Amino acid sequence: MNDRPQPRADIGVFGGTGFYTLTEDAESVEVATAWGPPSAPVTIAAFGSEDPVRVAFLPRHGTGHRLPPHRVNYRANVDAMRQLGVRALVSPFAAGSLRPEIRPGDFVVCDQIVDRTWGRASTFHDEFEDVPVHVAFNEPYDRRLRRVLLDAASEAGVTAHDGGTVVVVNGPRFSSRAESRWHRDAGWHVVNMTQSPEAPLAMEAGIPFAGIALVTDYDAGLDEDPDVEPVNQEAVFAVFAANLHKIRRLLDAAIPGLAA
Ligand code: ADE
Repeated sequence: MNDRPQPRADIGVFGGTGFYTLTEDAESVEVATAWGPPSAPVTIAAFGSEDPVRVAFLPRHGTGHRLPPHRVNYRANVDAMRQLGVRALVSPFAAGSLRPEIRPGDFVVCDQIVDRTWGRASTFHDEFEDVPVHVAFNEPYDRRLRRVLLDAASEAGVTAHDGGTVVVVNGPRFSSRAESRWHRDAGWHVVNMTQSPEAPLAMEAGIPFAGIALVTDYDAGLDEDPDVEPVNQEAVFAVFAANLHKIRRLLDAAIPGLAA
């Protein structure tokens, strides 16, 4: 630990699969937390010239994608953002689509979560100190941030679905066909491996949070179209990489509104 004052940031962004830097021109900061080190040093960069917004960026899987979804230190990552003072936290993530109308390359600005993970440290309150802490989670995603992202998507000219439920599986394997059908029949829209416990921890930390899915695949396949290939790892990375420019455009358009 050094005794230099901690830098501050206005908003935080978690990078996901294939999204490891926000900009080259950034200050790199090691943030120590009570939960251990975050997945990587946080980089902080100023966006905009008139009233610059300081954006803290942290790749959740580490810089070289070292950490599988069940081994990410979500508590350290969220706590690092809390220490930096972010007022909004945006979490882009790769996702499989459970429905034909939600296509690879589309975004979904999610409004609900179903958590099917297990064995993850998913709370800052393993022991209650003075009082019990049970946060409300009926609305996991912040409404205002969702609106800002949807407006930014229109401005950036990218397809974004307004609302959708992400079911979070433990991974690191993908779902079986039966699991995938079950998730779809239950009414859910996209599937991912990291939105929980990121979202509940942000809620506990009191940081408004928004999750934005970039659809990379049709999960275990589509009953409507037997020609659709089931997901594989190479396709997820390739589709994400091919669409990364859209995430950057969307974030560029959203940053002023996210910081407002
Ligand atoms: N991330 C990207 N595609 C996925 C899928 N089909 N299931 C879980 N996580 C994913």
